[in-house]
Amino acid sequence: NNPPWPAYRGYHEFSFAHETMGKRLPTILGKAIDDTIRTLNEQSDEERMVDLLKCIERMQVLMKDLQNNAKLRPIIDDGEGDVALWNKELARYFRGKTFMDAPWFFAEAYKYRRLHECFSISKYWKDYDVFFRQKCDTFSRSSTAVFELSTRFAEPFHYEANASDAEKLEARKLVFHELTQVCLWGNATDLSLLINMTEEDIKNLQSTGGEHLAATEKNILGNHIERIWNMLSKMKDGRIDFVLDNAGFELYCDCVYADWLIQSGIAKQVRFHGKRFAWFVSDVTRKDWDWLLNSMMYGSLFPDGSDAELASLKQLATRWKGYENEGQWIYEQHPFWCTGYSFWSLPSEAPDLFLHLSESDCVYFKGDLNHRKLTYDCQAPSQTPFDIAIGPLASEDGAPPVVSLRTIKSDVVVGVPEEVSKRLDEEEKGWRISGKYAVVLVSDGDTE
Ligand code: F6P
Ligand code: MG
Repeated sequence: NNPPWPAYRGYHEFSFAHETMGKRLPTILGKAIDDTIRTLNEQSDEERMVDLLKCIERMQVLMKDLQNNAKLRPIIDDGEGDVALWNKELARYFRGKTFMDAPWFFAEAYKYRRLHECFSISKYWKDYDVFFRQKCDTFSRSSTAVFELSTRFAEPFHYEANASDAEKLEARKLVFHELTQVCLWGNATDLSLLINMTEEDIKNLQSTGGEHLAATEKNILGNHIERIWNMLSKMKDGRIDFVLDNAGFELYCDCVYADWLIQSGIAKQVRFHGKRFAWFVSDVTRKDWDWLLNSMMYGSLFPDGSDAELASLKQLATRWKGYENEGQWIYEQHPFWCTGYSFWSLPSEAPDLFLHLSESDCVYFKGDLNHRKLTYDCQAPSQTPFDIAIGPLASEDGAPPVVSLRTIKSDVVVGVPEEVSKRLDEEEKGWRISGKYAVVLVSDGDTE
């Protein structure tokens, strides 16, 4: 059940895998240790401090293992639903492998699982999220783009008075195109790549205005937005799923999009799939989900916002919390999303989840890591069609329509004409990791 192309691995010096395993991960772990020390210094209870100190010591062991390229040991049974899956995959496929010679997507995910283990086996700090501060801080510095969207979309969507059916359809199509791109580019602010961002950097990454979107549409190298519209515009009262990526601004954009999908009547239910614990720095956990909605409603994250701006944010939050209370929006977190398996293994290793997703009318996968896992993170030629690249998730009986909205931040690229990727390989070094380019790709799934 593997693709015919080799997976990227840490020892591939030509790939971003090498830089990530050798440099980015130790830097991220170093910052996680600093965060935990900060928390330690805010404590007063002896038992809790001793317990947290042990978590820090375990992180230091993990740092040594990473730096010395240790063999990957089994995950300690901390009662989480994913332990058996991890240890099965380690025993069956990657026994004796090190951080550098296991497939990149597996080794990198393993590092985040080991980081969670540093806390999950403690007494008082089982759910501690070393990245929480950073996620909240970046969102609270995103006021420009947050208000740009809230002031435009707080009022419920409506048509011009006397609009004909054709005009209504055209209006819906325009909003769909725009919001799909808002949702796509929301993925640019992933914190694992952007360390120490200035306010200006954040602003540049988050421009959501029409002109900016028109200018960046040419950077979508494989663009199925129109195909997706053709599928969704025929839908009524459907179920849409989002396999989420990052918390804060990206999640906020996802919610703006999901809100419109409900208002337009395309969907009557949206299911959001998050992570059970801190994952790849900025990914959404339940706490991040609650934090976003409740901070919009009750917090004072943006002291410089005008009354109208702050009111628009509250109006959105009120509607979104209403969807949640009414069961139109549902947040879920299956253990499979925090394993080292690629999504080629989703039908076989998480059949319950596959069955659940097969009932969806369209599953959106957000971001770079989800795209790597969809495509097995391997050296497929760029012209490989998306539905071939995602294997069983396109071909298995019951496979739902799958959409990937991804800004390109790592080597694997599919669904893009060969001449385009060749030209960029020659002319623009680093185009595969810069986040400047993107793909919006769809697979129709098993349509029988
Ligand atoms: O480190 C691997 C990677 O997939 C990068 O390519 C990317 O920067 C990061 O992880 C996560 O990106 P995203 O949040 O879009 O999945
Ligand atoms: Mg992420």
